[in-house]
Amino acid sequence: MESVLQYVENNKSRYLTELKSLLAIPSISTSPEHKKDIESCARWLADHLGAIGMEHIEIFPTKGHPIVYADWLHAAGQPTLLIYGHYDVQPVDPIELWTSPPFEATIRGENLYARGAADDKGQVLVHLKSIEAYLKTKKSLPVNIKFIIEGEEEIGSDNLDLFVRDHKKLLAADLVVISDTAMFAKGVPSLCYGLRGLSYLQVELTGPKTDLHSGSFGGSVHNPIQALAEMIASLHDKNGRITIPGFYKNVRRLTPEERRSFRKLPWNDKEYAKSLGVAKLYGEKGYTSLERVWARPTLECNGIWGGFTGEGAKTVLPAKAAAKISMRLVPDQSSEEIARLFERHIRRIAPKTVSVVVKNLHGGEAALTPLDSPGVRAAITALEKGYGKKPLYQREGGSIPIVVQFKQLLGLDTVLLGFGLPDENAHAPDEFINLGNFYGGIRTTVHFYNEFPRAMRTGS
Ligand code: BES
Ligand code: MN
Ligand code: MN
Repeated sequence: MESVLQYVENNKSRYLTELKSLLAIPSISTSPEHKKDIESCARWLADHLGAIGMEHIEIFPTKGHPIVYADWLHAAGQPTLLIYGHYDVQPVDPIELWTSPPFEATIRGENLYARGAADDKGQVLVHLKSIEAYLKTKKSLPVNIKFIIEGEEEIGSDNLDLFVRDHKKLLAADLVVISDTAMFAKGVPSLCYGLRGLSYLQVELTGPKTDLHSGSFGGSVHNPIQALAEMIASLHDKNGRITIPGFYKNVRRLTPEERRSFRKLPWNDKEYAKSLGVAKLYGEKGYTSLERVWARPTLECNGIWGGFTGEGAKTVLPAKAAAKISMRLVPDQSSEEIARLFERHIRRIAPKTVSVVVKNLHGGEAALTPLDSPGVRAAITALEKGYGKKPLYQREGGSIPIVVQFKQLLGLDTVLLGFGLPDENAHAPDEFINLGNFYGGIRTTVHFYNEFPRAMRTGS
């Protein structure tokens, strides 16, 4: 182990150079004009996997973006880890708010700034670099490894599901490991055991058949923007609860033990509000901030448009208005059922003055990792060794829908071993990875590969 960790120490600056070159590829999955970049990113990873000593490297084409696979299966009699990550990134707009160009990774202080630095290229490379350290020093690993790195996570992983269904044998393993979440705080390592699900829809209202002069017609026609605003405003009550009938029906309650453990975490609402630049926090009554974000369902309007938004003034009564609305879900809500309840409710509350179209964009289920398992025990030990500190247990408000698919299709639990930070600006300008966490992640995964087979042997 010492020689492996020493190799990491000796190769830090090259590792950083390689991370920068991975981050230079603008692999934005949602933009068709970046298809070539997506492909060259998949190729970069495949080449890199080969260079570090992984085998059976394959770039699987899909109807969308390709999936990269590789394995190393020479740890006879030892268990197998399936490491999942994504090489696609979110768009960079508003680009003018970036301090340095998003695809020219730049160090400021102890952070490396670039799109994808934390979500998720930096965290994917963490695993490649710890595996390299083993294979270059010992010519072997204490555990069998399979990689599956996809290019459509940020747009809903549409084709991954099918790929997993068609490749159950190829992906057979004992545990999934995903590094695509954040630690509790800087210097506070944590193990994440819960993610929220998601239901994402679009609501389009049409009033008159064409835009109208607001002077000639205002007063006789219901403005679709007003109708939409009234509908959206009615989706929460005065206690911050969602008003869709049946919405809370399958929500699993927080246990008293879990509430107690959340309350023990080092947390300060005032500092949290200040760090976000809000004068006051908002949320469902009766729950703490962490409970609301980690373990209660929410509804957000992600975007709303219609009418005239250009410079200056135009007196128009628009024909159309629309909004994108997403709901974060918790166990045991079903994303499909929630989408149905949402659509039914929207149709019910839509005034007769407008016609409404509801589109279901995508969804995914919430996930909880059983804490009493060899994977979690190995992760706890590895984090402690990697950071020299006992990790906390936490949940996350974000979503990684494939976690539930891995359970359903492959029967596998997932350990979320995340090395991001809560203020890493994922999906926003100035995304960064803390370099201490990049190297801390490499040290931790070096330990994790060693600890997992041991934890399996000592029983669950
Ligand atoms: N890495 C995130 C998931 C995440 C976000 C975990 C925040 C923990 C905290 C992932 O890349 C992501 O952005 N997921 C989407 C899922 C969606 C596109 C289905 C999300 O959470 O919005
Ligand atoms: Mn991610
Ligand atoms: Mn993301």
